Amino acid sequence: MTTHTCCLILPAAGNGTRFGSDTPKQFLPLAGRLVFLRCLDVFQSHISACVIPTNASGKPIIEEALAQESFPFPIIVCAGGKTRMHSVAAGLEHVPHTCSSILIHDAARPLVTSDCIQACQKSLHTHTACVVALPSHSTVKYAQGTTVKKTINRDHVYFAQTPQGLEYTAGKKAFAQAISENWSCTDDAEVMERAGHQVAIVPGHPHNIKITTPEDWALAENLVDK
Ligand code: C5P
Repeated sequence: MTTHTCCLILPAAGNGTRFGSDTPKQFLPLAGRLVFLRCLDVFQSHISACVIPTNASGKPIIEEALAQESFPFPIIVCAGGKTRMHSVAAGLEHVPHTCSSILIHDAARPLVTSDCIQACQKSLHTHTACVVALPSHSTVKYAQGTTVKKTINRDHVYFAQTPQGLEYTAGKKAFAQAISENWSCTDDAEVMERAGHQVAIVPGHPHNIKITTPEDWALAENLVDK
C-alpha cells in the first residue's frame, strides 16, 4: 500500500456532552489551532484523501476552517450518524474508489504521531484490520455496579486508540453488516472482529489521548507542541 491509496476517515459528529462546552472539543483551538486541524496536520503526508463525517452544526465550522487551509488532498465533508459506528459507516460511502485502505481516526485525538500512522499502514500490508493500542500497566477489574466480579489477566489487556486501519472492501462489507444487524460497537476494530477478521495490534503512544473531559484538555495543553 502506498500513501496514494490511503483515505482517512475523521469522525467529527460527536456533541462532546461529557466535555461540557457548547462547541464540541474537536472544533476548539488547542494552543491556537483547532483540534481537528491538528489531526489533519499529522496525517497530511500519509494520505491521499480525507472524509469528515459531522453534524449540522459542525459542517459550517469545518468548511470555514478549511477555507483558510491548503491541504494537498481532497477533503469531503459528509453527514455523520447517531453513533460513532454510524458516522464511520456514512464516511465509508464517500471514500474515493482509488483508495484501497482506510485509516479511521477520532477527531478528538490531536496528539497522534506519524509513527502510529505509519505502523498502521505497514500492518495493512499483511492484515485486513489493525488497531493502535497500548498494553495495560494496571491491574484490570471487571465489575458489576461497584462489586468486583473478576480480575482480568493484564498480560492480555490493551487500551485501544486510533488510528484504526481497514482494507477498504473488507471494511465496507463489515460496516454494512454492522448497520443492517444493528451492532453497537464502540470502535472500528470491534466491527472487524465481529465480522470475523483478525485485527492486528500496533504500538500506540501515551500522548495520543482522546480529549473527552476538561481534565483531558488540560493534559493535552501541556503535551502539545506550542
Ligand atoms: O464519543 P467518542 O468520544 O467515542 O467519540 C470519538 C470520535 O467519534 C469523536 O471524534 C467524535 O466526534 C466522533 N463521533 C462521531 N459520531 C457520533 C459520535 C462520535 O463522529 N455520533
